Amino acid sequence: MKLAISGKGGVGKTTIAAAITRIFAQTGGTVYAIDADPDACLAASIGIPEDEAAKLKPVVEMRDVIRERSGGGAFYVLNPKVDDFINDYSYKLGNIRFLRMGDPKKGGSECYCRENTFLNALVTSLLLDQNDTVIMDMGAGIEHLSRGTARGVDMMLVVVEPSRNSVNTAKHVERMARELGIPRIGIIANKIRSENEKQFIASSFPGNSILGYIKFSEAIWANAMEPSLAVEVDKEMLAEMKQVCLKISGEVGGKF
Ligand SMILES: Nc1ncnc2c1ncn2[C@@H]1O[C@H](COP(=O)(O)OP(=O)(O)O)[C@@H](O)[C@H]1O
Ligand SMILES: [Mg+2]
Repeated sequence: MKLAISGKGGVGKTTIAAAITRIFAQTGGTVYAIDADPDACLAASIGIPEDEAAKLKPVVEMRDVIRERSGGGAFYVLNPKVDDFINDYSYKLGNIRFLRMGDPKKGGSECYCRENTFLNALVTSLLLDQNDTVIMDMGAGIEHLSRGTARGVDMMLVVVEPSRNSVNTAKHVERMARELGIPRIGIIANKIRSENEKQFIASSFPGNSILGYIKFSEAIWANAMEPSLAVEVDKEMLAEMKQVCLKISGEVGGKF
C-alpha cells in the first residue's frame, strides 16, 4: 500500500505519518517512511535518534550517484541498482526503512532534471513493489510529485485542523491529487477539541472522504518540547489512528 500525506504546515502531517508508520510496521511487513518535506522531522517522530538522523544524507545530495545512475533515460526504472541504493542509503529501524529526500531546490546545480528523474525512479521503484508499505510525508506542496510517481500512490491523505486556512490548503491539495490521477483521497481531521470543530470539518468535506477525527492531545502538544516520541505519549491517539489505518487498508485493499 502506497500512501502520501499532505496538508498545511503544522496541521500534524508528520505526527500522523509517524503513527501510521508505526502501526503498519507492527503488522510485520517492511514499511518505507519517506521524508519528502524539507521542513519535516519524520525521522525523530518515528524513533530514529536525532544524531543518527542528522548523519543520514538526503537523497538529493547524493549527486554523484544520482548523475551516474540517471543517465540512462527511462531504462533505469528497471535497473535493480535502484533497489541497492534504497538498501544502502536508508536508515533501518526494525522493519521500518527511513529515507530523507531533502530539498530538491538546494544544491547549486544549474539543472535538476537528472536528479529529479532519479528521485522519481527511486520513488517509483518503491511504489511499484506490491508487497511493501510506503508512507511519504510530503508537506503542503505536492507539485514535485510527478505524474509518473503519483501513478503508484494508492491514496493521498490530507490532514486538516479546524481552521479555514487548513481546509483551503486541503482543497487545493485534493484538486492537485485528482489532476495527478491519484485514485483515492482521504481527509484526516486532526486536533479536534469540540463537537463544533468536528462539525466544521464535516461540513467542509461533504461526502465520504473523512477517514477519522483525531482529538487534540495535550500530551502530544506538550511533548513537542521533549525529545521523546510523540506517538508513544498518547495511547488514545494511537487507537484513533489504528481505526484510520483500518479504514485506509479497507479502501485500498491492503493487508492489515
Ligand atoms: N492531535 C494532536 N494534538 C495535539 N498536538 C498535535 C496533534 N497532532 C500534532 N500536534 C502538534 O502540532 C505540531 C505540528 O505537528 P507536525 O506533525 O509537525 O505538523 P506538520 O508535519 O503538518 O507540520 C507539533 O508540535 C505536534 O506535536
Ligand atoms: Mg511535518
